[in-house]
Amino acid sequence: MQTDIHQVLIGRRRIASRIQALARQITADLRSSGQRAPADDLPLTLVPILTGSIIFVADLIRHLPLRMRLNLISVSSYPGASTRSQGVRLRRALENLPPSLAGTHLLVLDDILDTGRTLTRVTQLLQRRQPASLRTCVLLRKDRPTAHNFPVNYVGFDIPDAFVVGFGLDFNGHYRNLPDIVTLKPQVIARVQRRG
Ligand code: XMP
Repeated sequence: MQTDIHQVLIGRRRIASRIQALARQITADLRSSGQRAPADDLPLTLVPILTGSIIFVADLIRHLPLRMRLNLISVSSYPGASTRSQGVRLRRALENLPPSLAGTHLLVLDDILDTGRTLTRVTQLLQRRQPASLRTCVLLRKDRPTAHNFPVNYVGFDIPDAFVVGFGLDFNGHYRNLPDIVTLKPQVIARVQRRG
């Protein structure tokens, strides 16, 4: 696996310290939205988008000192060996959430903002359930006009428009367990894509 890495874009220590900073910012913002209630009584639901966000979310929530629920949703746009979005497929999206989210503060979490289609679809669906507030947070945002068009509230890192893996992100199902955000050697991607 290590020999497939082309370049480490963001190392694990930088990721860890940025996640702590994000958590501080999110906590402060949520506390200020709960002016009429103690922050711990704020009905807060985190909505992580599977599968790529799992490691990010696992790290982030341990730095959020707030009472919260987790509602996982499943979306796929890079099936198999794709390195470009194939369109958003909402799999188990929203089925675990109550039909009305009135009074609930939502924080939608994703690994990476690329075309913006995933967050656009998911936030549109969630808004219909009328939450008290809806914020979005991504670990990575690609340097593409489409990504910058989506008004995300929290961004861990802005990265170049390259296909990245590690820290939860995969290529053809692999590399999620790499602790750093990396790019793969072009020949590794080509080899897998040739095999189909
Ligand atoms: P969109 O295009 O909807 O993309 O903003 C969001 C989803 O696409 C996947 N994605 C990637 N996965 N490396 C990956 O492993 C990448 O460089 C990449 N870019 C987008 C990811 O699942 C994300 O949730």
